[in-house]
Amino acid sequence: MDQNTQKKCLPKIKDAFGQSICSYTVQSGEQAKTLPTLEKVWEFLNREGADRKSLLVNLGGGVLCDMGGFAASCFKRGIDFIHIPTTLLAQVDASVGGKTGVNFKIFKNEIGTFSFPIKVIIDTHFLETLDHEHLLSGFAEMLKHALISDQEYFYRLREMNLNPAQLDFAGLLPLVEHSVRIKEKVVLSDPLETGLRKILNFGHTIGHAFESYFMGTTDEISHGRAVAYGMAVELFLSEKKSGLPVDKLKDAVDYINKVYGKARITTKDFEPLINLMTHDKKNESAKINFSLLNDIGLPVFDQTATTEEIFDGLGLYLRF
Ligand SMILES: NC(=O)c1ccc[n+]([C@@H]2O[C@H](COP(=O)([O-])OP(=O)(O)OC[C@H]3O[C@@H](n4cnc5c(N)ncnc54)[C@H](O)[C@@H]3O)[C@@H](O)[C@H]2O)c1
Ligand SMILES: [Zn+2]
Repeated sequence: MDQNTQKKCLPKIKDAFGQSICSYTVQSGEQAKTLPTLEKVWEFLNREGADRKSLLVNLGGGVLCDMGGFAASCFKRGIDFIHIPTTLLAQVDASVGGKTGVNFKIFKNEIGTFSFPIKVIIDTHFLETLDHEHLLSGFAEMLKHALISDQEYFYRLREMNLNPAQLDFAGLLPLVEHSVRIKEKVVLSDPLETGLRKILNFGHTIGHAFESYFMGTTDEISHGRAVAYGMAVELFLSEKKSGLPVDKLKDAVDYINKVYGKARITTKDFEPLINLMTHDKKNESAKINFSLLNDIGLPVFDQTATTEEIFDGLGLYLRF
């Protein structure tokens, strides 16, 4: 667990474990997702006499799932692990799909493995202590799941009351489960991301550029918020290039703008944003690669757009 989940989440489940556990707490946050932290986890497992039959339980957000999954997948050539994801992003995204890893130097998720937990246990009541911005970050990935695979689910999500004071955590569980099933189905059909799994990158080509652009500034934004802005712009590209109907474009962008507001950019920011996209490692041979939509629920991957088309897409988004 990390410092926050030790305080806020462990008390909710402590009784389930009885006396037979040893626990280890890492610092919270992305900056702890490194090899030195992993080394401490391995030292702990070694000191406590963990063997190949030991089980590692990861209680926390995406950082814990990624790092704990990686720690378990290498210790003694791999021990079993369970995820108990405690952020919405971890519940609908990081705990599903088998990607584990840590950051290395300036590179995100540079060292890692594909390894699957033997179980993922999800309880949306953990989210009661999560701050609203982290909740919205996970919600963006749920919206993405709906947009790439299930029109009816999009309109169901749109009905949700996201107001922190009125959020129905129990009512969120079936929606989280639906999102998990969508991601799981995509991942199982293409575990190593050679084809269909790329549809999960919808919103992410432009989203990653937003995320990097604001990183380290006073306007820093969460991953999910960046993806929400990215999806809005990629919806405009979808309308121009892949036949997304205008009424669907309007429904989706209206809703994203309602929940997340608009990205704080002007036309002056377009060029540096596009420069960031050309450095995105997911692009082969300097073309800018996208997953777009033919319609809500009908994705297409391996699409490309020119810098002029992206420039126009950003412009349409700003003027909408
Ligand atoms: N493996 C994958 O497929 C995948 C997918 C998406 C994201 N990720 C990774 O996930 C990470 C981001 O995940 P995240 O946003 O969950 O980050 P996180 O794990 O850092 O959690 C965010 C913050 O919330 C705190 N927290 C966690 N649960 C809480 C709770 N119930 N109540 C109060 N506070 C709580 C954490 O301590 C942390 O400060 C990134 O490192 C990203 O690379 C991985
Ligand atoms: Zn994402």
